[in-house]
Amino acid sequence: MKMSFIPGTDVVVQENQTVLQAALDNGMHIQHTCNGQGSCGTCKVRILGDENQRVSQSEKQLLSEHDIKMGYRLACQVQCNDNMEVHPQH
Ligand code: FES
Repeated sequence: MKMSFIPGTDVVVQENQTVLQAALDNGMHIQHTCNGQGSCGTCKVRILGDENQRVSQSEKQLLSEHDIKMGYRLACQVQCNDNMEVHPQH
């Protein structure tokens, strides 16, 4: 499977990986203060192509409804999908 980090880096990812794991495995930087435990909110990214994935309880607590509607997710809570587009925060 392929995932794109915007701007302009395509990486190969595994189906059961989280977006955070895939990013770190491919040398992409996403903040992750709680190490993927779903408790800090620092791994917030905008993701296109994950519309069918359930929003986790951690995301409901750490992101606003507006954020979620705009496509913001926690990278440690979202599983990789083929052709997903990730927009890291800077
Ligand atoms: S790394 Fe802390 S919520 Fe994702």
